[in-house]
Amino acid sequence: MLKLKNVPDLRKVPTPFWYYDMDLFRRTIDTVAALSQEYGVIVHYSIKANAEPRLVDYIAAAGLGADCVSGNEVLYAMEHGFAPEKIVFAGVGKTDRELSDALRAGIGSFNSESLEELQTLDRLAGEMGLKANVSVRINPDVDAHTHRFITTGLEMDKFGIPKKDMDQVIDLVKSSRNLHFKGLHFHIGSQITDVENVFTNECISANGIVAYFEDHGLRVDNIDLGGGLGVDYYNPDSHAVPEFGLWFQTLTEHLRHRPDQQIHVEPGRALVAQCASLVARVIFVKEGERKSFVILDAGMNDLLRPALYGAYHKIENLTYKSDELRLYDVVGPVCESTDVFAEDRTLPLTRRGDLVALRSGGAYGSVMSSTYNMRAPAYAVFSDEPFPDFK
Ligand SMILES: Cc1ncc(COP(=O)(O)O)c(C=O)c1O
Repeated sequence: MLKLKNVPDLRKVPTPFWYYDMDLFRRTIDTVAALSQEYGVIVHYSIKANAEPRLVDYIAAAGLGADCVSGNEVLYAMEHGFAPEKIVFAGVGKTDRELSDALRAGIGSFNSESLEELQTLDRLAGEMGLKANVSVRINPDVDAHTHRFITTGLEMDKFGIPKKDMDQVIDLVKSSRNLHFKGLHFHIGSQITDVENVFTNECISANGIVAYFEDHGLRVDNIDLGGGLGVDYYNPDSHAVPEFGLWFQTLTEHLRHRPDQQIHVEPGRALVAQCASLVARVIFVKEGERKSFVILDAGMNDLLRPALYGAYHKIENLTYKSDELRLYDVVGPVCESTDVFAEDRTLPLTRRGDLVALRSGGAYGSVMSSTYNMRAPAYAVFSDEPFPDFK
């Protein structure tokens, strides 16, 4: 059960708000930083998961790199203390402007996702008299066994360079004076919970592709295996810190690599999901003909994941305890039928005015929020700061 620190009278505080457990956040980052050293795996935080400045600043200070997917994320990462050479930049649709800005900044690697992108980068770097560090993102066609909407490494997905283009990529990189080839990049999907099997399969596929590039005369110094480590949305308290050790062990065991080759990863969700909850108030409990609806003052504009891909978030009543269990649909106030946080969820009896927490909302939560229906954004509360004063 979520325990709120430094929160005054719960019945009176304005809602909804994001509550950050900063002890858990720091424990998670310190753990991953230590394991990164132990296993020799270089970690880049995927900024898209949560760009809250306090989190990003701490992650940069812990020595991690940044994984960005837009020009603005690259600029933001640098503003928040990431050295350019620790920044990698992926994405299927980088504009000329985004490429030029990142080139000028001297980032560590463009993780290029198409032949056209490589050709454009080659031309821009030539015009600017600069050399672009590139890694080539190959679509390995490996099933991440996760939700279809967060699978990225299958031939049907838009991400990465298809294997059929590998020879052309190799020719281009070898013949270019403007591209500095760093290595290969893969990312097969998100919320991967079958860690050993799925990441072993990714490594087996990567081994073949790395060997192919090296056999064709390109030295692969960096092997970036992307992000994707899942978290336990069902038991956030018993699995508060994800299994980074198991992940790194699986990768270092199954990826064939020489001592001079660096293994990189790009976790987003695993670093921040468990540290934040969305706290909302029950506006009404409506007894429908067929269903009972718990209607919250937070909606899909605050936390989109359930509406976007049917994601599960544990829901806890923070202010009322009952032994009586009921079946509810927990919904938001937004005028969309998909504004549903949980369908047919068994919860203790819930009443108007109760405060509930939607757990594990730290990743892909606030970053995806909008003001749809002219709703005010949820504010942030940190466990190690006084509660905001609204007087
Ligand atoms: C290229 C790339 N790397 C890393 C990530 C982070 O994934 P996750 O949050 O599942 O670790 C993503 C997310 O979609 C991604 O597209």
